[in-house]
Amino acid sequence: MSAPSTPLTRRDFLANSAKLGAFVAAAPYIARGADAAAKTDQLNVALIGCGEQGAVLLNAALKIPNIRFKAICDIWPYRRTYGERLLKKFGHDAKPYEDYREVLSSHPELDAVIIATPDFKHSEHTVAALKAGKHVYCEKLMSNTVEGARAMVLAARETKKLLQLGHQRRSNPRYLHARDKIVRDAKLLGRVTNISGQWHRAVTDDFGFPVGQGIAEAKLNQYGFANMHEFRNWRWFKRYAGGPMSDLGAHQIDVYNWMLGANPRLCLASGGVDYYKTHEWYDNAIAVFEYPTQEGIVRATYEVLTTTSAGGGYHEYFMGDLGALKISENPKYTKLYREARAPEWDEFAKKGIIASPLSGEGAPAPVKPWEKQGVKKLAAPSNATVDVRETAALSAWEIPVTLDKAIHQPHLENFFDAVRNGTPLNCPGESAFATAVTILKINESIAAQKALTFAPGDFTA
Ligand SMILES: NC(=O)c1ccc[n+]([C@@H]2O[C@H](COP(=O)([O-])OP(=O)(O)OC[C@H]3O[C@@H](n4cnc5c(N)ncnc54)[C@H](O)[C@@H]3O)[C@@H](O)[C@H]2O)c1
Repeated sequence: MSAPSTPLTRRDFLANSAKLGAFVAAAPYIARGADAAAKTDQLNVALIGCGEQGAVLLNAALKIPNIRFKAICDIWPYRRTYGERLLKKFGHDAKPYEDYREVLSSHPELDAVIIATPDFKHSEHTVAALKAGKHVYCEKLMSNTVEGARAMVLAARETKKLLQLGHQRRSNPRYLHARDKIVRDAKLLGRVTNISGQWHRAVTDDFGFPVGQGIAEAKLNQYGFANMHEFRNWRWFKRYAGGPMSDLGAHQIDVYNWMLGANPRLCLASGGVDYYKTHEWYDNAIAVFEYPTQEGIVRATYEVLTTTSAGGGYHEYFMGDLGALKISENPKYTKLYREARAPEWDEFAKKGIIASPLSGEGAPAPVKPWEKQGVKKLAAPSNATVDVRETAALSAWEIPVTLDKAIHQPHLENFFDAVRNGTPLNCPGESAFATAVTILKINESIAAQKALTFAPGDFTA
C-alpha cells in the first residue's frame, strides 16, 4: 500500500489545470501537434459521400489548418449541393461530382480522399482512390464483407499509400489517456477479467427525404440501390451494411480489441428482427467474446438495442480485480472505480493521471482529510436503500482529460499528420481489418445460432 496522501478535490484539480496541461502536452499523442507545426503544407482533399457523416467530417476538417477541398462527390444532388455550398462559405472552391471516378481522373493535385459513403461502397471507393495514388480516410465499418475489407488493406500495401479507418475513439485524448496511462502504465485496473459494453438507442422512424428531392430509380439502380427507401435506410439492409452491430457496435468492439491489444478467439451471439417491420438486419443483438490475453482470458459482452434508450446510453466498461474503467465518447458516461482492496490511488491523482474521488453512483466517497483543509465536504449519496456490501467496495474517480474539439477532428488530424509528417496512423487498415473480422462474425453467429471460433490467421489480411 502506498503512503496515504491528501487527494485533490475536483476544484483543486481544476485550479491545478495548468500543471495538468503540462502533463497532457507531454503525452505522445498530443505531441503530434508539434510535428504538424513543423510541416503544414497545404493538403488537397476530396470528399466522396456527403451525407450525415460526410457533413460531420467536412465541418471537422474545415477547422484544421491548410486543408483545401478541391472536389466533392455525392450521387444525391440534394447532399452534393449542401456540401458544395458549405465549402464555398468557407472559401473552398470545390468542384461537384456525381461519379467518384471523375473526381479521381480530373484531380491529379489531390493528396487525399475522405470516404463517407454507405459501407458496401467503401471497398470499391477506397481501392480506386488508393490506386489513383491518393491517401484515404474511410469511414467505419471498413466493409460489409471480409473480402471487401481485405481488398482495401492489400491495395494500401500495394500502392504504399496511407489508409486510415474512421474508428475515431482511437484518437480521442481521453481514450488514449485511459489506455496508455491508466490501464497500461499505472495498471490501475489490475488484471482485467471482464468487459461489458452497450449502445441503447430509442425507437427511430425510417428516414424519408424532402419532397421533390428523390433520385430516379434507374439512377439509383446504376449505383447499386433498389429504391429510395433502401437508399435512405441502407443500414438496415443486408446488401448495403451489417446492421446495428456494424453501425454502432463497430466503434465499441474496436475499443475492446484496441484497449486489450488482442483479438477474440470465440464469438457467441443472439439477435433478431424483434421489433421493426421494414428492416432486414437484427434490431437487437447481444454478443459474447472470449479474448486470450497474456494475463489470462477476458470475457466480454456487448449489447446493441435499437428499441430502448433505457440503461445508460453507450459506453465500454473494462473490469479488473483492482479497478474498473467505464468510458464513453460521451464524457458523462465516463468514470473510474477503485476497489477497496486496491493500493491507494492518491499518488496517481497527484501526478494528474486520475482526478479526485467523487461521491455518487452508489459509491460513498471515502472519508478523507480534505475537510480539515477547508474544502467543502462532498455530499453523501442518498442511497440508503442500497446494500452497502454491493457498493462500499468501489470509490469513484475521474479521468482528467477532456476533448475540446469535435469528436472526429483528432482522428482527421492524425491522418493529415501522417500524410505530412509520417506520424503513425491511429487506425491503419491492418488493425481495422481485425475489427471488421470481429464484428462481422457476430452476425454470422446469430445466423448460425451457435458459437463460432476465430483462427489466429483470420485477423490478418
Ligand atoms: N465514425 C462515426 O462516428 C460515424 C457516424 C455515422 C456514420 N458513419 C459512417 O459514415 C458512412 C456514411 O454514413 P451516413 O450516416 O453519412 O449515411 P448517409 O446515408 O447519410 O450518407 C451517405 C451518402 O453517400 C452518398 N452516396 C451513396 N452512394 C454513393 C456513391 N456511389 N458515390 C457517392 N456518394 C454516394 C449518399 O447519397 C449519401 O449522401 C457509413 O459508412 C457510416 O457507417 C460513421
